[in-house]
Formats: sequence, C-alpha cells, structure tokens
Amino acid sequence: MIRSYEGSSLNTRVEDEGRAAAFEAAYAWIEPVGGWLTRDQARVLFEAVRALPHNSTVVEVGSHQGRSTLALALARPDVTVVAIDPFEAGGRFGGPATRQVFEDNLSRPRVRGRVEHLALRSTQVLDAWDRPVHLVFVDGKHDVLSTLRDLQWGDRLPPGGRLLVHDGFSSIGVTLALLLHALPSPNLRYAGRVGSLAMFVRARPSGQDRLAVLAELPWFARNVGIKVLLRLRLRPIARLAGHHDRADPY
Ligand SMILES: C[S@@+](CC[C@H](N)C(=O)[O-])C[C@H]1O[C@@H](n2cnc3c(N)ncnc32)[C@H](O)[C@@H]1O
Repeated sequence: MIRSYEGSSLNTRVEDEGRAAAFEAAYAWIEPVGGWLTRDQARVLFEAVRALPHNSTVVEVGSHQGRSTLALALARPDVTVVAIDPFEAGGRFGGPATRQVFEDNLSRPRVRGRVEHLALRSTQVLDAWDRPVHLVFVDGKHDVLSTLRDLQWGDRLPPGGRLLVHDGFSSIGVTLALLLHALPSPNLRYAGRVGSLAMFVRARPSGQDRLAVLAELPWFARNVGIKVLLRLRLRPIARLAGHHDRADPY
C-alpha cells in the first residue's frame, strides 16, 4: 500500500519535473523574441497544447514576431498551429518588416513544419474555415469590434476546448468585448487568468462563473489606471500601486 503510494507520487514528481524541463528548454527559444507575452503566460500556452488530443489544430489570431507562436508550436510536434496575421503595413505592429522577423523566428528546425501562416485578417479565415480547431489563442487587433469578431472563433471549439485571450482585463477594447460576448454566452465558462491572459472553456457557465468575470473589473480598472500613470510618466505612483515594471501590465 505504502509502496504503491510512494511509487505514484514519485511518478507524478518525475512527470512534473519532465514538464518543467520541457518548458524551460522551449522558453530558451521564446525569451529572445519580442512581444508582450509573459513567461507565465507562455507556460499556459505551452501546457494547453500539451493537453490536446493527438494531431490537434490550434488557431492563433495575431502572431507579431512569433513569441506566442513559438510557445504554442514548441509544445508538441504533432500539433499544427495556424498562425493568422495579415502583417498590414502602416499599423503600429511593423507590417512587412515584422513579417520578416516572424518568418525568421519560425524558420528554426525545431518548429519547421508545425506552423501554417495565413497572411489574412482573422475574420477572412473564420468565414472560410472548415477544419476542426481544438484550441484558440486571441491576441489580434485590440479594438472592441475586431475582438468581438475574433472571439467568434470560440464557437468553433469542441466541448471542453479552450479559448485563451491575451490582454483580457488590461485593454479597454478587449475587456469590453469580453463583457459583451463572453459574459452573456451560454457556451463559455470563465476559468481564470494568468496576468491578463484570460482563459475560457467551451462549457455551460454557472452564475458563479459569470460573477467571476465581473469580479475582474476592479483589477481591470487598476490596470487602466497604471497605463495612464505610465503615459503621464508617473512611475513612482504606479510603483505604489504595486506595478514595478516599465511596461504596461500584461
Ligand atoms: C499584440 S500583437 C500579437 C502579439 C503576439 N501574440 C506575441 O505573443 O507577441 C497583435 C498582432 O495582431 C495582428 N493583427 C492585426 N489585425 C489583425 C487581424 N484582423 N487578424 C489577425 N491578426 C491581426 C497585428 O499585425 C499584430 O502582429
């Protein structure tokens, strides 16, 4: 009895250590890539892919230089990551120059063949999409209308599938879209957040799940306040509010 307990706890520890080591090895590739995804958020993406069935498909909306793309693609060789980013010129994300950086970052042998890049807007892809999708990561344009459209990817998930939304409670546009789309949805259950990475599961939410979304609003207000302080160069006051980073809260 005791031996069997020790055996299973040892197995669990070995598995945990194996998973941690796999992520550490992956993070060495992710860390130098520019972007806003934190280390803990990269780990969430990585583990979410590791938990998928064999030969699954992941949709990523908004790739930029490939930081999140790498976190998704390095997790498993059998999973296909469909990375959607139009890399439009003239925006704040660098357009074609950023595309070149993205392609360089994704040309490494460890991820070659795991990522399909579609240089289109996410809605163009969604309208024509006829494949299964098992995990969706949304980090595209952050205005409310674009995010509302991007969140519709969640309707394509199977029961239990996960919808991960970056800047969930730190961007006004994304947060409004979550309140308009995810909060009233009968098919999206809020499963918490890691920093601003909000996690939803395709499942029927309870009243408490909906209240948990609303309970994030004070944290959202704090984040908007910190962004305002940083724009006004009032970092010492942001520090008093517990924000010690030069960057916005992610
Ligand atoms: C915040 S960045 C993504 C960051 C990236 N996920 C990372 O981890 O570094 C937003 C990206 O969304 C892309 N984007 C803008 N409009 C889009 C659209 N309609 N569909 C998909 N991506 C879009 C931009 O080109 C930009 O690269």
